[in-house]
Amino acid sequence: MHTTVGIVGGGPAGLLLARLLHRAGVDSVVLEARDRAYVERRQRAGILEQATVDALRAAGAGARLDAEGIPHDGIELRFDGQAHRIDFPSLTDGRRVWVYAQTEVVKDLIALQLADGGTLSFGAQVRAVEGVDTDRPVIRYLHEGREQTLTCDYVVGCDGFHGVARAAVPAAERTTYERTYPYSWLGVLAEAPPVYEELIYAHSDRGFALASMRSPHVSRLYLQVENGADPAAWPDERIWDELDARLALRDAPGWRLRRGPITQKSVLPMRSSVTEPMRYGRLFLAGDAAHIVPPTGAKGLNLAAADAIVLARAFARWAANGSTELLDAYSATCLRRVWRAEHFSYAMTTTLHNDPAQSGFDTRLQLSQLARIADSPHAAAELAQNYVGLPLDSPA
Ligand code: FAD
Ligand code: DHB
Repeated sequence: MHTTVGIVGGGPAGLLLARLLHRAGVDSVVLEARDRAYVERRQRAGILEQATVDALRAAGAGARLDAEGIPHDGIELRFDGQAHRIDFPSLTDGRRVWVYAQTEVVKDLIALQLADGGTLSFGAQVRAVEGVDTDRPVIRYLHEGREQTLTCDYVVGCDGFHGVARAAVPAAERTTYERTYPYSWLGVLAEAPPVYEELIYAHSDRGFALASMRSPHVSRLYLQVENGADPAAWPDERIWDELDARLALRDAPGWRLRRGPITQKSVLPMRSSVTEPMRYGRLFLAGDAAHIVPPTGAKGLNLAAADAIVLARAFARWAANGSTELLDAYSATCLRRVWRAEHFSYAMTTTLHNDPAQSGFDTRLQLSQLARIADSPHAAAELAQNYVGLPLDSPA
């Protein structure tokens, strides 16, 4: 089998890229290791930037997002027992974000890809990507018990942090910059209406908490926990009590989240990682395969979408007139934005979490920085502009 662009991985990056390529008349094949139900159920991100929403619309996947997505014009920061709202439109020339779960984005893109006759194979476990420094790279994969090969003009590794595509770049030709954090998130999904119409990011002596949502009836909630924490050590009542304690307001002692059945619980480790360059020969890396961020600030999915957008434009140019100019610029174009998001995610994470080794001095610095954001439109604008996403076409 041969295709123009072989895509390893059917997460948001791979699926969006396939749809944008289809729109540009470039054929592709997506190979996804897991089955459809697994990919559609995997609970992950929930916030979409304007550029991601625009790309989903352009890919033809905007209908349900426009009907069910919840636009948000701000977030609330809670620290020192007080609440401060950051207003996005006034600080960012009218930009906002949408609450629309990654599970739904993936469902919409898969349905479209299959309805449109686009090639997407589930249960296709890629073993290796070979010959990326030749003009006929090959993807070797296992499907329905048989070894198969797909030859391509180009290969894109969209196979996430634990994928295999990155390994096709010789070790001497790539560098990975990494940082781990001394805490994790316990993420839960609850059948309980969100108590507030916007997201709440809370700093407290007991650790970080985040109140998000999936719909008017379902809350998505996160608590900072120690690395290696066992979700079984967090019965539902303990989770609700801890959320209430971390989100407490000095002037509203009766403030409580609305409780309901918790339907999912999982612990997520936090890591920052960037592999450079994002292209080697005829292999491109996109999304988590190239970079990950800690989730504070909701950049992971949006960065994956941005890579797919930049790459789809580059392939469209190449297909139209043979120019590789944009393909050659891909890595540098994306990395500028990636490092900005890495910095933002790192800053949000380290300002809002309680490092078990931190001193009273460190805590005072965090509170001082949060107060600066609350008091200064300049500091608030810096947060808001990064949160809603920097425009794709401007340098970071
Ligand atoms: P992925 O979504 O990881 O997709 C990669 C795909 O490749 C997967 O479907 C995988 O099955 C497939 N694959 C892997 N190896 C192979 C192979 N050998 N052959 C074929 N297919 C393969 N971001 C936020 O903003 N907020 C959050 O709350 C949040 N929570 C997260 C929780 C978890 C547990 C994780 C892992 C990430 C979370 N993220 C979150 C980050 C966000 O979900 C990711 O940045 C986003 O999924 C990246 O999309 P992607 O397509 O690059 O990678
Ligand atoms: C969500 C996740 C995030 O990491 C974040 O910063 C905001 C919201 C969410 O899953 O809803």
